[in-house]
Amino acid sequence: MIVNFALSFIFASLALSSPLTSSNPLGLGGQFDVFARNVAISSGCSTTGTASCHNTSAVSNTCCFEAPGGLILQTQFWDTDPSTGPSNSWTIHGLWPDNCDGTFSENCDPSRDQSAITSLLESAGATSTLSFMQTYWKNDPDDGSDEELWSHEWDTHGTCYSTLEPSCLPSGSPSGTDAVAFYETVVRLFQTLPTYTWLANQGITPSSSTTHTLTSLENALAAEAGVTPMLTCDGSNLNEIAWYFNLKGSIIDGTFVPIDSPVDSDCPSSGIKYPLKTGSPVSTTSVSSTTTTTTTTGTPTSTGTPGPLPTKAMIVAIHNGAQVGGLLTLGTWSTQTLATMTLAGSTSSFTMTSSKGSCGVSGGELTCGSGVSATSFTAISSGGSLLVASGGSTAFSSSAVPSGETVETVFTGSSEAQTYTLAIVST
Ligand SMILES: *[C@@H]1O[C@H](CO)[C@@H](O)[C@H](O)[C@H]1NC(C)=O
Repeated sequence: MIVNFALSFIFASLALSSPLTSSNPLGLGGQFDVFARNVAISSGCSTTGTASCHNTSAVSNTCCFEAPGGLILQTQFWDTDPSTGPSNSWTIHGLWPDNCDGTFSENCDPSRDQSAITSLLESAGATSTLSFMQTYWKNDPDDGSDEELWSHEWDTHGTCYSTLEPSCLPSGSPSGTDAVAFYETVVRLFQTLPTYTWLANQGITPSSSTTHTLTSLENALAAEAGVTPMLTCDGSNLNEIAWYFNLKGSIIDGTFVPIDSPVDSDCPSSGIKYPLKTGSPVSTTSVSSTTTTTTTTGTPTSTGTPGPLPTKAMIVAIHNGAQVGGLLTLGTWSTQTLATMTLAGSTSSFTMTSSKGSCGVSGGELTCGSGVSATSFTAISSGGSLLVASGGSTAFSSSAVPSGETVETVFTGSSEAQTYTLAIVST
């Protein structure tokens, strides 16, 4: 029997604790079902217990408690020499399990190493994750192929997670399910950490001339994310970031709890450059939240030449190929009468204003109102529509699909259960 595992919708059960986002884990506790074409792997672990590195006595079940590597870093590159990935996004480096004291283990189980990651993900039905990785998980071409980096990250770091031990997976899981779950989680977590957009929201964009103090960069990111990351520089050039977490439950479907970096950034205190990337802003819809297909949600497409930006528009939501309402004046998603937005700027950078005030993204949440500072969006031409993109991604998500009088908070990226795009319709 061929079993396709589409882990892509397990992310519905991932919840990032406040302050980054709030979401309602669906608590997918269902058993492994070999008869379903798309199977949500569920760890069966609770996400309400003690966070990793916070236990005061030994925890015996390390399938549901990450140990010893419970200090987890989601690392991202800003590579400009040569440039890799979209010009308006940081790229994925990896997801590393440090020990609670900052030491770490590597290469924990060579018997579980993987090299053919593309075919592993394809045969697991994880094609939307693969597609996302092809755009956002880039190796320095001087160091090797993207797939070599993906393989290296699993072999070196992924095999060290206690909660991904094969004995912790649902019985009957094919070999390699541990690695597939790892890649799914890395992508899902990265989508909640839009470093580029967060800096841009705070007025910090790449430049060949501007310099920054370390404090200003850290404060800008902390204002958006609620926690302070660890920055790394290559000389005076900003080059890498690490977002730190503890974990409740399993890497498969646990809750990542954001924490301040326990270590100092490795950058000069001033004179830091955030260099421009060459290339273009690429938009791709990200991991699909749908549970019914294994089709990709869009290979990366060039931005093409979008039509002109209207000055007055409604913003409609496209969910599973159909229009379902759109944005109200507060920037929420509903099927009630849609707001007329005023758009200012060009497709490469515009602001959006409703009758309530400017629309902006803060902490991953879209709102419009008098106290909101405007965020710059881009408009991406796709299939004859002009889509709103934030931080280069056209994916937006909410915990549920609205109907009748209900109103849903709109988040950037696809961290919430229902993912959709927002199309600009001239009025
Ligand atoms: C936390 O649990 C892990 C796993 O059982 C154990 O190795 C570690 O010593 C525990 N920490 C404390 C402070 O007891």
